[in-house]
Amino acid sequence: MEFSVKSGNPEKQRTACLVLGIYESKRLSPTAEQFDRACAGYLTNLLRRGDMEGRLDQILLLIQPPKTLCDRILLVGCGKERDLDDRRFRQIMAKAVTTLHSTGATEAVCYLTDLNVKSRENDWKIRQAVEAAEEVLYQFNEFKSKKEPPRRTLRKLILAAPNRRELPAGEQAVREGVAIAAGVRLTRDLGNRPGNVCTPTHLAEQSRQLSEQFPVIKVEVLEQAEMEKLGMGALLAVARGSAQPPKLIVLEYRNAPKARKPIALVGKGVTFDTGGISLKPGAEMDEMKFDMCGAASVLGAFRACVELQLPVNLVGVVPTVENMPGGQATKPGDIVTSLSGQTIEILNTDAEGRLILCDALTYCERFDPATVIDIATLTGACIIALGRHPHGLFSNHPPLAHDLLNAGETAADRAWELPLWEEYQEALNSNFADMANVSGKRDGGAIVAACFLARFAKKLHWAHLDIAGTAWKTGKEKGATGRPVPLLTQYLLDRVNENGGGE
Ligand code: BES
Ligand code: MN
Ligand code: ZN
Repeated sequence: MEFSVKSGNPEKQRTACLVLGIYESKRLSPTAEQFDRACAGYLTNLLRRGDMEGRLDQILLLIQPPKTLCDRILLVGCGKERDLDDRRFRQIMAKAVTTLHSTGATEAVCYLTDLNVKSRENDWKIRQAVEAAEEVLYQFNEFKSKKEPPRRTLRKLILAAPNRRELPAGEQAVREGVAIAAGVRLTRDLGNRPGNVCTPTHLAEQSRQLSEQFPVIKVEVLEQAEMEKLGMGALLAVARGSAQPPKLIVLEYRNAPKARKPIALVGKGVTFDTGGISLKPGAEMDEMKFDMCGAASVLGAFRACVELQLPVNLVGVVPTVENMPGGQATKPGDIVTSLSGQTIEILNTDAEGRLILCDALTYCERFDPATVIDIATLTGACIIALGRHPHGLFSNHPPLAHDLLNAGETAADRAWELPLWEEYQEALNSNFADMANVSGKRDGGAIVAACFLARFAKKLHWAHLDIAGTAWKTGKEKGATGRPVPLLTQYLLDRVNENGGGE
């Protein structure tokens, strides 16, 4: 879909559809009021008849409104003005775009950006409108034999800015929204692909394809033999049970002065997690195809970053494997040596994410990064702790945690911090190796997993995002969400602004 920004009076718009907001109790939004005055109270008269209350999710489509320049008016219920927060704004936009698609309009001018969202500026609303529109339009048809004809009536959405002065900021907001949406789409597509297609080899190919599409991204793929030579015993232990060869994908995007240390993103790429010999129960095991969503979000963040040509130095490290129970598979009690030299007693082969990530974190040291952020569908326990709304956030560097929490707030893709205290470390004591990969108890499982990773991040300013509850939706709407690409991209945008763009 095409997006643009425009300022100007609603009654002057020659458009296939004008989109206006109505608050609860039939209260007109500022633009709706302006329009109403210009049309001799057309809207107020209409509302008086009781067809539209203005409740959230309510809509009313008016065809060929008399004495106006537009073919249609879509009135969108916005609920109570004082309850209008980030989430509701997105909900309202989603409803508007879905409805627009069921009309014959090929283009629309949307004035919902005039809604009063607590402490949000016009450009924030414009960017969110773009992201929300792309989110609801997303379809994943790759594996349907009869493609649903994508209902692509609406081709262009024009978003209103309050005045000409706001146009440049609005246009930048559209660019950001479009870039983030493209990153989110890539992440969702990769996540939604089944495990028999989306293998470690597939992820490596897709990364190469990304670098062909955007040659500023350099990609290198380390094969099993090279990882053996390096001594990545933890990562390789996970891959042993599978017929699919493991890969370590390394992406680099350098678009800031050489002297500036890069930001590294590390993504868990388990393309299917059966649990290995510590086999998972059957219920919902299909969802373990999403266990590579951390990896997919690294690619998505790169995609957004290059489209915006952000002046940052970015490194991506994606360890990718399939976790299977095979004749060669790692067994509970096996001891391996990680790339860091620390030994690990693998008591549970289903705690595999931390095993591939610990070697990837050590590998990151060679880039001398300013910060390292890993993104992983790491623990079911994170879903127990936080539910499926925020990402779990852990960090050994408080300023980094702070920046990521802020980025999540700005991007409407929030994280919530959990403690990473020394007290939790003893859960990983082993009688036979430097540490075990799991604790004997289920207490604080998300924290214990983060504590394991922390042992491999001592030399780094590091944060860990546990996206087990946020990377995909279960149930009727099953599918990848593309989170936390908005958060990650915002984090990078914030770093650019911090540096003033240049040096
Ligand atoms: N990929 C899973 C975590 C997961 C489970 C994410 C369910 C989303 C939904 C991870 O590899 C895993 O199996 N973790 C175990 C750890 C346990 C063995 C300590 C878990 O969470 O049960
Ligand atoms: Mn597992
Ligand atoms: Zn897993």
